[in-house]
Amino acid sequence: MSKKIAVYPGTFDPFTFGHLDVVRRASKLFEKIIVSVAENKNKNSLFNINERRDIIQKVISNEHELNNIEIKVFSGLLVDHVNDLGAVAVLRGLRALSDFEYEFQMAGINARLSNEFETIFLMASENQQFVASRLVKEIHSLGGDVSSFVPSIVLGHLESKKK
Ligand code: PNS
Repeated sequence: MSKKIAVYPGTFDPFTFGHLDVVRRASKLFEKIIVSVAENKNKNSLFNINERRDIIQKVISNEHELNNIEIKVFSGLLVDHVNDLGAVAVLRGLRALSDFEYEFQMAGINARLSNEFETIFLMASENQQFVASRLVKEIHSLGGDVSSFVPSIVLGHLESKKK
């Protein structure tokens, strides 16, 4: 039987404890999770795509129980990337109701483009409900403490961007 692979796509600018929570929980449900970092040219990202990939790689390597995770980058359509990998699912985290409309639209469009995988939503854990990359960047740039939102590796990279 082929391995059940799930792709967890995102911009991950930067990777937060919310993202890590999704990876941890999904890693128990699938044989392999591929965290796929999107190029996303429309978004003005703080970290470039290779930086984002390398940061996630470091965070995951530090989590010793996570041994079925791979990190990749992609540009172009998510559906093509997912089908190239032979994945059976796309994972997305859901926080509040405000996430729903965008996620609903994306899942619907992706389903129209390809029927070879399912989009599966994991509800954010209670203590990660409010974590958002955009706010982490804003708080950090204004001198606020983001250590409860991002792994220390990410914090270090945020610090070095500031210098
Ligand atoms: O972390 P984000 O920014 O919410 O992730 C959004 C992402 C990267 C999953 C989405 O923008 C995406 O799939 N981009 C790839 C291009 C694509 O397939 N666009 C059509 C989506 S319906």
